[in-house]
Amino acid sequence: MFLAERKRGFSPLKMTDLTSWAIIPLLLGSVGVYSLYRLLQRLRSSAYVQGAVVVITGATSGLGKECAKVFYSAGSQLVLCGRNEERLDDLVRELGRMRKGSIQTHKPHKVIFDLSDVEAVDSASHEILNNVGKVDILINNAGISYRGNILKTKVSVDRMIMDINYFGPVALTKALLPSMIKNGRGHIVVISSVQGKISIPFRSAYAASKHATQAFFDCLRAEMAATEIEVTVVNPGYIKTNLSMNAVTDDGSIYGVMDQNTAEGRSAEDVAQIVLRAVGERKKEVLVAGLVPTLAVYLRTISPKLFFAIMAARAKKERKLKNA
Ligand SMILES: NC(=O)c1ccc[n+]([C@@H]2O[C@H](COP(=O)([O-])OP(=O)(O)OC[C@H]3O[C@@H](n4cnc5c(N)ncnc54)[C@H](OP(=O)(O)O)[C@@H]3O)[C@@H](O)[C@H]2O)c1
Repeated sequence: MFLAERKRGFSPLKMTDLTSWAIIPLLLGSVGVYSLYRLLQRLRSSAYVQGAVVVITGATSGLGKECAKVFYSAGSQLVLCGRNEERLDDLVRELGRMRKGSIQTHKPHKVIFDLSDVEAVDSASHEILNNVGKVDILINNAGISYRGNILKTKVSVDRMIMDINYFGPVALTKALLPSMIKNGRGHIVVISSVQGKISIPFRSAYAASKHATQAFFDCLRAEMAATEIEVTVVNPGYIKTNLSMNAVTDDGSIYGVMDQNTAEGRSAEDVAQIVLRAVGERKKEVLVAGLVPTLAVYLRTISPKLFFAIMAARAKKERKLKNA
């Protein structure tokens, strides 16, 4: 019969023709549904941060400063925290000069305190609540890095880094959490690091403080699951900021060097945008890193032996460079 039809110039409609015709509306439909989903997600995300009271620690520099800009532009009411009032004033002026879009912006508040002083953290939390009444989103961003040899590093240096990177965010979170629970809304964000997941030689105190941070906020997320409190842990790789310049060494002195990895890192503006999106989408965790650090994170779990060998080789290479 097919032979006869072919002779008459007809070609029978094949199943493959039908599927290729059906695939076009199906594809268009899927793209449409996905675009609608993304649009709704974007609207939901911007409504989530717009007007929200957002506390940012370490707002005087790097990622914290960029987070201040993106959350300010998104219409959040900012509470900018730092140790240096002058730099916070500069930031407030810079935000005031930023081009205003259609979203209403709010004049930020400033709170000055040192995160390594638990009592100061406690009084800062009272000051924040007295000034703005509530906190919707807390971004635990402030931090300090370290470069040093374990054998030479004083315990006081390990402790100082833990105080700033771990106990500071823990204390501020604990001080603000009860009011968030009472309000029925709250979001705790912490800027950890890829080094919260893997440890790199000659960064012991920093990696340890970030591992502790990761562990604490993972526990917090689980314990808060029955409440309205969200927890987002952000794990960036290298970001182009002054982190390495401000890092401390074995004896607590300032390292003062812009490391090549840091200088070639991702821009703080990009990472701040990722933080804003992660908060809006209530992500539990975000790894903001290139292929190699991402693979290293997985390698640590899948093949620890290989990971340890790579880190030992890295330590050897770094030691050689130092002694050269
Ligand atoms: N840059 C990277 O490659 C990278 C990668 C992964 C994760 N991170 C994390 O990103 C966060 C932000 O760092 P950054 O890269 O933006 O470095 P940064 O430019 O050096 O900024 C660090 C901020 O933390 C503040 N800070 C330091 N010690 C403090 C203390 N005792 N009390 C209060 N505030 C204090 C600093 O305030 P002062 O101006 O008063 O010093 C500054 O605002 C940190 O948690 C860091 O660990 C950075």
